[in-house]
This record gives sequence, structure tokens and C-alpha cells, in this order.
Amino acid sequence: MGPEKDCILDIRDLVMRFGGLMALYRPDFVVMRGSITAIIGPNGAGKTTLFNVITGFLIPTEGLVLFNDKPITCLKPHQISRIGISRTFQTVEIFRNMTVLENVMLGFHGRMGSSFTASGLKAPWAVKKENLIKEKAEGILKFIGLSRKSNHAADSLPLGEQKILEVARALACEPALICLDEPAAGLNETESHVLSSLIRAIKEKGITVLLVEHDMKVVMDISDDILVLNHGQKIAQGPPDEIKSHPRVIEAYLGDE
Ligand SMILES: Nc1ncnc2c1ncn2[C@@H]1O[C@H](COP(=O)(O)OP(=O)(O)OP(=O)(O)O)[C@@H](O)[C@H]1O
Ligand SMILES: [Mg+2]
Repeated sequence: MGPEKDCILDIRDLVMRFGGLMALYRPDFVVMRGSITAIIGPNGAGKTTLFNVITGFLIPTEGLVLFNDKPITCLKPHQISRIGISRTFQTVEIFRNMTVLENVMLGFHGRMGSSFTASGLKAPWAVKKENLIKEKAEGILKFIGLSRKSNHAADSLPLGEQKILEVARALACEPALICLDEPAAGLNETESHVLSSLIRAIKEKGITVLLVEHDMKVVMDISDDILVLNHGQKIAQGPPDEIKSHPRVIEAYLGDE
């Protein structure tokens, strides 16, 4: 296996301009398959913008995103989710008046082409598919440790569990790469510890993790590789020990923590 084979995502010459603002300016990097790669940097550095480009929510001004060596820059979000990249959002985006289980089941629908209308009409093929989706969703809830709350309303969960529920929904797409935008934001120490273990377990399943996070304990504990952005540019990349003591990173970001 050559070195190229180990790379799942390759970001090249990416530029994202919003009017006069350069939100991303060529932060070239690759994500190794099977790794946990974190993207850190101050507010407004371009981290979420980078996720939006990778997951098809934004078309970059210039540049390429290669997933398994294929350009995906022109694909729409639902197409990107189908080829194996899923994401969570910086602000919790769950369906509040649905149950925990239904929220996870929704994650499958893009993937499996099922529709609630067909199952509402009780077409036999739709019911069968729906049962399969339910079974898979239950498996995911078991994996993330939320089985006991399967039938609770999603908005009755504490924030920590709502964030984990979002991760569960992203897992339902059966991704090869999962992009988590600040999953630990708003969590207490115990909750972020649970989250760290969960992210490690996701990696152990063979899923590559791309993580945007301000909680440096989580980042330094679980990351294999860290990319540091500042004003849309890459200022450093390396393993946690190197990043912790990197002068430019301390100056731009870690110093004021
Ligand atoms: N759709 C948009 N239109 C115009 N400007 C945008 C848009 N999205 C982001 N920006 C700007 O691009 C810059 C980068 O924003 P981005 O949300 O990517 O930062 P971030 O690194 O995720 O910050 P934070 O840590 O606060 O989440 C900011 O100046 C932001 O205001
Ligand atoms: Mg952000």
C-alpha cells in the first residue's frame, strides 16, 4: 500500500471568499484513513467554512476536495452523504418533537432512499425497509449508549446527550468519514469525557474522524493529527505534542486559553 492509498481526504488549493473576506486561503492538508484529525484555531478562522466546503454546503471559490482520490467539490450535500461523508452541526440540529430513535432513523433515509410517505401508506416493501432501518438505528443507539432513552422525546435529553444523538444520526449514514463540528461545546467535564470515548470507539469501527473543537482536553487526548487554522490559512499541522508547544499556535490560539 503506497502512501496515497492511506489518504481518505485531500484538500488542495482551496480558496473560499465571501465578498472581500478570505475565509479560507489554501490550507492544504490530507486526512489519513482511520485517523482522528482535529482542526483547531480561533473564532472565525474558517473551520466551519472548511466543513461546509467538504460536505457540499458551500462551493469553493477555487480549489479541490478529493475523497478517495475523486474530486467531490461539485457534489450536493445529499450526494456527499451518499458517498460516505457525514457531519454534525455546530448548533444542535435535532428534531425536537420526535423520539430519540426516530431522530436516528431519519439519518438513514438519505442513504436508503426510503420515504415516510410510502411507509405511512403501509406498502409492504416500505414496511420491510422501515423495520430494517429501525433495527439498524437501535444498533447505533446501543453503540452510543442511548438505548434506554430510545423512546424519549429528543428535546427531553440533556445537552450532552443531544450532542451524542446528533453523532448517532451522522453514523446512520454509514459514513467512511464523519465530520464533527464542536461536539463538546457546552458539555461539562464528565460529558466531554464520555464524548471522547465515543469518538475513539468510532475510530475503532474503522471510521475516519474529522473534528473541529475548542475543548483542548478533548482535542489533545484523542487526536492523531491536528491542523491549525488562522484567518483561513494553515499555520501548523502535527501530532498533539508538537502542536501544544508550537510557537505560532501558542501565539495565535493556545496562548490566550
Ligand atoms: N456564509 C457566509 N457568508 C459570509 N461570511 C461568512 C459565511 N460563513 C462564514 N463567514 C465568515 O467566514 C469567517 C470564517 O467563519 P467560520 O464560521 O468558518 O469560522 P470558525 O473557525 O468556524 O469559527 P468558530 O470557532 O467561531 O465557529 C468568519 O469571518 C465568518 O464571519
Ligand atoms: Mg465554527
